[in-house]
Amino acid sequence: MVTEGKDRYANIIPIAELDSAEKRIHPFPVYNRLRQTTPVRYDETRSCWDVFRYDDVHAVLKDPAAFSSRRALAVREKETILTMDPPRHNQMRSLVNKAFTPKVVNDLGPRIAAITDELLDSVLSQGRMDIVHDFAVPLPVIVIAELLGVPPEDRHLFKEWSDVLVKGPEQNTDEEFRQVIDEKIKATDELTAYFTKIISQRRTETAEDLISILLRSEIEGQKLSDEEVISFSILLLAAGNETTTNLITNGVRRLTEDPQLQQRLSQTPEDIPAFIEEVLRYYPPVQAIGRVATRDIEIGGQRIKAGDQVVSWVASANRDETKFDNPDQFILERKPNSHLSFGFGIHFCLGAPLARLEGQIAIRKMMERMKEIQLQSGIQLTPIPSPFVYGVKEFPVSFRTL
Ligand code: HEM
Repeated sequence: MVTEGKDRYANIIPIAELDSAEKRIHPFPVYNRLRQTTPVRYDETRSCWDVFRYDDVHAVLKDPAAFSSRRALAVREKETILTMDPPRHNQMRSLVNKAFTPKVVNDLGPRIAAITDELLDSVLSQGRMDIVHDFAVPLPVIVIAELLGVPPEDRHLFKEWSDVLVKGPEQNTDEEFRQVIDEKIKATDELTAYFTKIISQRRTETAEDLISILLRSEIEGQKLSDEEVISFSILLLAAGNETTTNLITNGVRRLTEDPQLQQRLSQTPEDIPAFIEEVLRYYPPVQAIGRVATRDIEIGGQRIKAGDQVVSWVASANRDETKFDNPDQFILERKPNSHLSFGFGIHFCLGAPLARLEGQIAIRKMMERMKEIQLQSGIQLTPIPSPFVYGVKEFPVSFRTL
């Protein structure tokens, strides 16, 4: 089904309780209250259910038969693994898994470290930088572009396209919805034309980039069509860039909130993977995940009807006191740390190993080369205008070099 209307965006309007920039920067007390008072509730304004408790969020995500990922697609939006249900999801996911192996990701480590160093080289002497624009935005864009085999001179196009793909309306007006939709259509058309060109090149020359591997991948005689490779490549941009940007920025934000943590990570860099996991739990880049009920079903004592939209708030689940001790404390030693920030079950984030690796390398390089990282004084943090993505538009810091 294709829809141009508001239904597509029904569940990306912010929840009414997060009605100020301040609350969207610090939404956790609001989630804590909603989890206590209305753990599963229907929101008339957004025409969807909200689920706030860990066990309920987990129950929704682990049951794709009852909670489908299929949804009305926006104009030009193609079906991808993100919006497929079994059995098609299993087939496609196995195919892309073949290209996105741990080895492919781990082999990227030295390249990610080199890109990270280059980005830091260009700002270190200034003693100040904007973490978002100078560092956390370019890093994942360059990594994905290289992974896909996109030439360096086209990277800036990728950044522009990927920004538009994840953009949500800032004001809830019809005019703005229309404008955002038009921009997305334009970006998708341009990306499709771009990838079509790349694919025809890759068909004639053998290369080892992700697109070439995807074109060759085969399961039981089945291959991906050009169109499927294009949709998947576009999905990687949309799903991988802004999320990783926010993981890095949210991590640095946490370090500026706790200078002792900075010292500790610079002395014991082996704690950085645990730090990244706790950042994912504490400040999750994706706050909520949408599904549609396929049948009448009860969750948390509420009767959800077939066809109802269900929004699972992982940002709330990650602070559920029945699952995590002292959930509002940032605890590096937390074990196990079963946060739901990459989702759960069959749609568990395909890019999680890459996002973790990028996050860890970004923080490790910063700890090796910088100290006393502080948010510049007088800065008012502005939330990203998307209720599902958690992060800030800018994060200007000052620091000393090592
Ligand atoms: C799926 C979060 C980075 C590619 C997901 C899902 C979440 C998520 C919550 C599940 C969605 C659902 O259940 O409907 C994140 C976060 C990231 C991140 C927080 C960074 C910190 C990446 C990266 C890539 C990526 C770097 C690729 C380069 C994907 C894909 C899926 C997905 C392809 C769909 C998997 C499927 O439906 O089977 N991600 N993601 N993500 N992610 Fe990520």
